[in-house]
Amino acid sequence: MNMDIFDNLLNKASIFKDERKLDINFIPKKLPHRNKELSLLSQLFLTLLTNPNEISRKILITGKTGIGKTVTVKNFGEMLIKAAKKREISIKYIHINCRKERTSYKVLIKILRSINTNFPKRGYSPQDLLEIINDFLNIHNIHILVVLDELNYLINNDNDLIYSLTRLNDDSFNLPQRFSIIGIVRDISCINNLDNSTLSTLQRNIIKFENYTNEQIFDIFKYRAEISLKRNAVSDELIEMISDLVSIKGDIRYGLNLLWKACKIAENKNLQSITSECIRLATEDMVPFSTLDVLKDMTSQKLIFLLAIINQIKNNKNNKVTFLEILKSYLILCENTELKPRSYSQLWNYLQEYKKEKFIFVKLESKSIKGRKALIEVPDIPIVKFENIIREILDSKGLKI
Ligand SMILES: Nc1ncnc2c1ncn2[C@@H]1O[C@H](COP(=O)(O)OP(=O)(O)OP(=O)(O)O)[C@@H](O)[C@H]1O
Ligand SMILES: [Mg+2]
Repeated sequence: MNMDIFDNLLNKASIFKDERKLDINFIPKKLPHRNKELSLLSQLFLTLLTNPNEISRKILITGKTGIGKTVTVKNFGEMLIKAAKKREISIKYIHINCRKERTSYKVLIKILRSINTNFPKRGYSPQDLLEIINDFLNIHNIHILVVLDELNYLINNDNDLIYSLTRLNDDSFNLPQRFSIIGIVRDISCINNLDNSTLSTLQRNIIKFENYTNEQIFDIFKYRAEISLKRNAVSDELIEMISDLVSIKGDIRYGLNLLWKACKIAENKNLQSITSECIRLATEDMVPFSTLDVLKDMTSQKLIFLLAIINQIKNNKNNKVTFLEILKSYLILCENTELKPRSYSQLWNYLQEYKKEKFIFVKLESKSIKGRKALIEVPDIPIVKFENIIREILDSKGLKI
């Protein structure tokens, strides 16, 4: 019986040519409408090939979410490594997501592991690690290009590292320069929290990624459909429909997910191509990928507090919940999961972080922490869906509620 289901599924004509190529982590060979940025990066880093280890470059990239910052830099990294290999220059590209590696220690270990896979993990301070990395690069004559993606997560936590990395080799004129850095942030204002000297180093070279226009979004999806779907699986009109939906937010990830879902719906209906109805159905239960990403990397404590807020919003139909109400719900969740509750001030910080991550809008109405009335709204995602996602993630972390 089960075999029949598989047989049927396997024999069914698929809409996909290569499903993988719609995945948000896939790095396509071409990036329509990012050539200007790619060639700017190449010009800036050309010196790494013409005068190896003579200059180190520090660049900052900014631009809104989902407009190709990460993928363009990764694509550029591949190009640079290829060009360096051809010329027998040792350059290593190391891409670090600071949302995942939130301390200098973690970032440095990641760098070290990428150049020397045998390195034992424990027992070193960040300063030690920095020196070990520097020595290793000198002994093996390597230059590294470290990309600190989503750098804003490190800025408030660990400014020292950014300072050390940007200043490294600065006072050693005439010595080989081993480190280049590309920092990526969405919002340029977050770098204002850095000290003046780091700020001035980073501000020297800023590349701003502009939002895509409607026509550009169309070209991108036309291309992504071309490499991942069979011919005629999606018409230009429908790509236009997707582009219009994407242009509201500008996040290409949303569109990739939408297109993938629409294809799955079409396949389920035994269709050879997507219809507008498939796209409409696909939009109905979409969660922005960026949201999902951030949720997946949150600590259990922070997730539980978010769940407490959502529970309260569900109970209070008018969307207005007080800190005290949230707290009650939070303490019950902590008891159920046997987690030790966090302090008021820590929870207050969580609220500020959610706000920054755009999970909730908070409007305050009174002054003392406990009595504070906050008008909390959850944008974008239907509340029940939001709750289910958080529960699923907690479940995957072994926390049953
Ligand atoms: N010009 C393009 N051509 C093809 N695909 C693209 C293009 N620009 C972006 N994409 C795709 O869109 C998705 C989002 O891009 P990316 O991850 O680079 O966004 P980002 O600017 O780094 O966003 P965030 O600030 O949220 O990290 C990726 O899957 C990427 O492959
Ligand atoms: Mg990114």
